[in-house]
Amino acid sequence: MPIRQPVVVVLGHVDAGKTSLLDKIRGTAVQAREAGGITQHIGASFFPLDTIKEICGPLFARFGANVKVPGLLVIDTPGHEAFVNLRVRGGSAADIAIVVVDINRGFEAQTYESIEILRSRRVPFLIALNKLDTLPGWRSSNDSLLDSLKKQDKTVIDELDNRVYSLLGSLSRLGFRGEVFYRVKDFTKEIAIIPVSAKTGEGIPELLAVLIGLVQQYMLKRLEVSDQGRGIVLEVKEEPGLGFTANLILLDGSIKEGDDIMLVKRNGIVVTKVKALLLPKPLDEMRDPRDKFIRVREVHAAAGVKVASHSQDLEGVLAGSQFYVINNGSSNIEQLKNQLQSEVSSLVISTDKIGVVLKCDTLGSLEAIIDMLRRADIPIRLADIGNVTKRDVIEASTVKEKDKYLGVVLAFNTKVLQDANEEAEARGVKIFHDKVIYSLVESYKQWVSYEKEREESSIFASLIRPCKFVILKGFVFRKSNPAIFGVEVLEGILRQKSPVINTEGMDVGSIHQIQDKGKSIDEARKGMQVAVSMNEPTVGRQIKEGDVLYTLPPVQHYKMLTERFKHRLSQEELTLLNEIAKMRRKVDPLYGYL
Ligand code: GTP
Ligand code: MG
Repeated sequence: MPIRQPVVVVLGHVDAGKTSLLDKIRGTAVQAREAGGITQHIGASFFPLDTIKEICGPLFARFGANVKVPGLLVIDTPGHEAFVNLRVRGGSAADIAIVVVDINRGFEAQTYESIEILRSRRVPFLIALNKLDTLPGWRSSNDSLLDSLKKQDKTVIDELDNRVYSLLGSLSRLGFRGEVFYRVKDFTKEIAIIPVSAKTGEGIPELLAVLIGLVQQYMLKRLEVSDQGRGIVLEVKEEPGLGFTANLILLDGSIKEGDDIMLVKRNGIVVTKVKALLLPKPLDEMRDPRDKFIRVREVHAAAGVKVASHSQDLEGVLAGSQFYVINNGSSNIEQLKNQLQSEVSSLVISTDKIGVVLKCDTLGSLEAIIDMLRRADIPIRLADIGNVTKRDVIEASTVKEKDKYLGVVLAFNTKVLQDANEEAEARGVKIFHDKVIYSLVESYKQWVSYEKEREESSIFASLIRPCKFVILKGFVFRKSNPAIFGVEVLEGILRQKSPVINTEGMDVGSIHQIQDKGKSIDEARKGMQVAVSMNEPTVGRQIKEGDVLYTLPPVQHYKMLTERFKHRLSQEELTLLNEIAKMRRKVDPLYGYL
């Protein structure tokens, strides 16, 4: 079986140096004596094996003559947060990825997002720790990275180790093990980190060698090509003079002019004839900037190619979805159709479950977010592509009646329609709207924990707390109806409406009001002397000056205080509560047990 070149996607935060790194490889390739030349594809560049061999130099020798891959097809992606879809589509097409990290900045928002995308697609990756030349004290050289490391000052090596170490921490928090490439023992279990500089070119031979090594060892099977043309739609766009065109990454087989291709739209499958296959024209041949493309008759996997077709067939094709080529070789057209259909329906979720409502702009982001939600154990009621509609809000509102934390809409990079907004306002349904995958799920989780905390706090604040207090001698202002007298709080917190017992555990009524210096207050704390009023008892009968009294939390409150909120009570309060329970059991043996 022939082997195609792997599709390598370069991902990372804005300004990490993704494009510079590829430019440097291109530049080095042009300078390399026997370079096989780089060909531009739509959305990708092809680096032939000879070129890579030339760049890697002696490092390549270790592979011997056994290298089977014909080169690398590399896709650059933008790091800006707005371009998540291009990252997701790149991720869909990728066999393997390079995540570029700025050595001075470590992991950043889109680094995390990129790794989430790769994880959801099960794409293996390595990390290029870029801008090595800016490490304080680093001395650049033409030596191999390992030789160069031996010649650096100890403080520089220590600093590099520090930065690598912090990266390992970030990876480990995401559940990955990483290691600097020369210490990696098992490339299938550890993410290799390769320090590089897009400015000086240091580390690039090592980066490419590790990449080729990984592909050689673990991916050859995946790269075998068959007759069935297949790939990923990167983008559908209108081109002047061509109408709607589709930028495709062909991952298997081939496409010729005149072939049919089968693609996915939200509401079904479309089959359209390839009118023209286009590749970018090399810059030096481009006389008129509008004249960007050259026409080719046929391309073989892997390739990035633009397809122009008849009529409006391509309008509405889902970016990030798969496509198939149908030619004389394809007899199983129904089967291919079912496969494409199931790709969409496996992602579109519609259930009666209590869960969140998710709306995304594309299949790719939908898949990535569903995956994140599942890993966070957040159930999903409805997940689909498209704008947030009134119906979505009504669904969320139905959920909200059962579970207010799940009755929400998560909207990714899509519009919230006017009537949906109005409905959400009216029903008090919260809509989370974001353009960053990671922060969409994160801000929802934060809201949940904030709301839960708030609810807990307000429940806790409403509980009757244990309190021990004494009726002060000489401060009885009124004996009954209501009795008004001075007390001092000895332990715990005295709250309005607290039922009160005496040392024998017997009810003597409940605190009606608490006043401090003539003003009504909600609670009095240990050491405070305040005036209280009680409707039920008469001073001199049920209670007397000098009596020590206790509050009696109702059984429900007692349960909550000793279980759910135990961690919020001080040791003194817990002991007091225990004492009160013992006292109460003299008249109600089951207090606190049922
Ligand atoms: P986006 O495409 O916007 O996501 O950015 P990018 O990751 O492609 O970064 P780009 O290659 O545009 O580089 C960003 C800046 O970092 C540029 O000013 C580069 O010159 C600089 N830069 C990139 N790599 C290096 C490096 O290895 N060393 C130094 N000193 N500067 C670098
Ligand atoms: Mg760039």
